[in-house]
Amino acid sequence: MGSDGTIREVSEDLVLVEVAGRKVLASARCPHRQGKLKFARVDGGRLRITCPLHYSTFDLATGERTSGPACDPLRIVDTLPGRQAAPPGPPATPVDRAAAPSGQDRPAATGRAGA
Ligand code: FES
Repeated sequence: MGSDGTIREVSEDLVLVEVAGRKVLASARCPHRQGKLKFARVDGGRLRITCPLHYSTFDLATGERTSGPACDPLRIVDTLPGRQAAPPGPPATPVDRAAAPSGQDRPAATGRAGA
């Protein structure tokens, strides 16, 4: 359950939190007393996750506890910045295919382009 985002259990140990255009891979268990974070509440405006058991709240960028019972930080395994992390302006394109010389817009099937 999340108020502003979604939480998916991806394994016994990990949840994927999608919030405010970001994806955060974090421990599935709260560091306080192992509450199941797949049932947590997510605050997308402040990038926080709140454990459903005793309401410890953690910063999803750092894992630091911001309120609730004292405990270790939440383990954040990986973070993929989303559209909110991008600077304002037109979307960037990784490769301008129209400008690429013919035949050079794709890597060779063997992965040995130019060999
Ligand atoms: S188990 Fe998460 S706050 Fe207690």
